[in-house]
Amino acid sequence: MQDFETVLREIGPKRILDVATGRGDCIRWLLEMYGDVDLMVGIDVSEKTIQAAQAARESISEGNIVFRVMDTADLDLDDESFDMVTICYSLHHLESLEQSLNEMVRVLKPGGWLLIIEAYRDSPRDTQLTHVYLHDWWAEIDRIAGIPHNKTFTRERIVTLLDDLELTEIQLFDSHGDDEQAKEKKMISRLIERNDFYPEKIKDHPRYEELKARGRELNERLRHIGHAPASQLVALLHKP
Ligand SMILES: C[S@@+](CC[C@H](N)C(=O)[O-])C[C@H]1O[C@@H](n2cnc3c(N)ncnc32)[C@H](O)[C@@H]1O
Repeated sequence: MQDFETVLREIGPKRILDVATGRGDCIRWLLEMYGDVDLMVGIDVSEKTIQAAQAARESISEGNIVFRVMDTADLDLDDESFDMVTICYSLHHLESLEQSLNEMVRVLKPGGWLLIIEAYRDSPRDTQLTHVYLHDWWAEIDRIAGIPHNKTFTRERIVTLLDDLELTEIQLFDSHGDDEQAKEKKMISRLIERNDFYPEKIKDHPRYEELKARGRELNERLRHIGHAPASQLVALLHKP
């Protein structure tokens, strides 16, 4: 079986939309793969994030790239106007999941491709479960702070979402990574530092102390078991 990057390279899209683009890391990866494209649009609901993506734009050397503030659930873009629509590590951030996926399909041209990359919680190794438990904790704090953020989905949940779309030729690739850097000191210290600070956004909430204590438990787990990214599902779907 071919690896997913080989399959993606063969598609060669000219107009790409990356939704929930964050600072544009997925765009950088796509441009490395595809070189020059006619149009690359990155959208994100957060104005601050789009400003940061624009500020980091100089490091993207190729392609016509536009960053815009927009909600995935209500894309201000024409029907059937992109060869490829991508969403990387962000499905679980969307408040209106089904509506957002329908919008992504709407703006795809017939013959176009939807690419979804998403981590999943039923990852096989203990080091990866550290990531899953940490992420659940960050997401819970975010939700209390009023920021939509779901727990990491199961693989089955992601596949069910895809099955509900009117797309064909679903190709799925799983990537599990490895534990080579699972106990790397700098990475563990960086995560612990982040965790110590993370609950501060809900400082006045009644659950602050409880969630702070959970953070201390997770830091212990980080020190003893280590951390590796959760397994990822790469899904490629075709619009007939
Ligand atoms: C994990 S980050 C993005 C990661 C990025 N795609 C990458 O590959 O590095 C998730 C992003 O989703 C954005 N987001 C959340 N809800 C959104 C929505 N309804 N529409 C567009 N962007 C949204 C957040 O603002 C955040 O920047």
